[in-house]
Amino acid sequence: MSFRIQPAAPARPNRCQLFGPGSRPAIFEKMAASAADVINLDLEDSVAPSDKDSARANIIEAISSIDWGKKTLSVRINGLDTPYWYRDVIDLLEQGGERLDQIMIPKVGCAADIYAVDALVTAVETAKGRSKKLGFEVIIESAAGISHVEEIAAASPRMVAMSLGAADFAASMGMQTTGIGGTQENYYMLHEGQKHWSDPWHWAQTAIVAACRTHGVLPVDGPYGDFSDADGFRAQALRSATLGMVGKWAIHPKQVALANEVFTPSEAAVAEAREILAAMETAKANGEGATVYKGRLVDIASIKQAEVIVRQSEMIAGI
Ligand code: COA
Ligand code: MG
Repeated sequence: MSFRIQPAAPARPNRCQLFGPGSRPAIFEKMAASAADVINLDLEDSVAPSDKDSARANIIEAISSIDWGKKTLSVRINGLDTPYWYRDVIDLLEQGGERLDQIMIPKVGCAADIYAVDALVTAVETAKGRSKKLGFEVIIESAAGISHVEEIAAASPRMVAMSLGAADFAASMGMQTTGIGGTQENYYMLHEGQKHWSDPWHWAQTAIVAACRTHGVLPVDGPYGDFSDADGFRAQALRSATLGMVGKWAIHPKQVALANEVFTPSEAAVAEAREILAAMETAKANGEGATVYKGRLVDIASIKQAEVIVRQSEMIAGI
């Protein structure tokens, strides 16, 4: 470990973030009643320009009138390249009440984007005497965002979570696809005449995980567009969990249970992690730093790997 110790990300469940357009208040109660850990009420791209003002009013009303239980409540504001975002921030903070936990800033391209929002949020929070400090989550969904991902993760103590937004990311990168996450037909290796599909999102995901883990921020996988394809969602989510992400968006209620299933460590995985910890306790008592578990090496690094799974499981069990 470096002399600089890696900070822990917030210990809160973030297995599923359920989205809903701010212009569709009829689904807000359903979102509150869902099993998602995080609710994202949207003011950005699922809301038509003509509906921005009414969507903002709907969300402000819903923040305090609906019982969101223990969920993390977040509102996705409009991007900094639009004329809407400053009004989103000011009205949410002046009129939205204390229940709002965080805002999601889309299409972040550099640390200065976060600085600008932080300055405005801090001024309004102070002026209104708001006691709860608003958290930030961001979406990495552009070439600039992924190029500056590390400085973005470090940009403010308000930073809580960071998601990969596959659709805008693909467009910004000039990727030849209209798919939102998952397997892309043309991205394959050829071996002995057989196609083997690779993962075009892998690089961006690992860059996000590394930036987040360096700065104590939760890395999250974004949307999977084909909500009729449960197997495809599960495969994408399993890859994300394997890479270190803690959760995934749901853009339809069907996807909530799938995300919760994948991002809750299985009983078998937790049992094995506990056995590894027990094996290492025995090794330590015998003065050994390494031992054999089920025919394979485990050593002091294995303790840290096992602890990731046990800690995640205990944190989720404590909800
Ligand atoms: N959250 C909670 N409930 C939802 C919901 C959501 N995001 N989307 C739909 N529902 C409800 C519907 O009201 C319906 O409820 P009912 O059975 O009581 O009538 C049920 O789930 C089934 O809905 P369905 O008919 O399959 O979907 P739809 O056509 O009404 O809506 C979408 C489909 C994709 C338009 C809608 O899910 C949606 O807007 N998703 C979020 C989009 C978004 O926020 N995008 C931005 C981030 S990428
Ligand atoms: Mg987007």
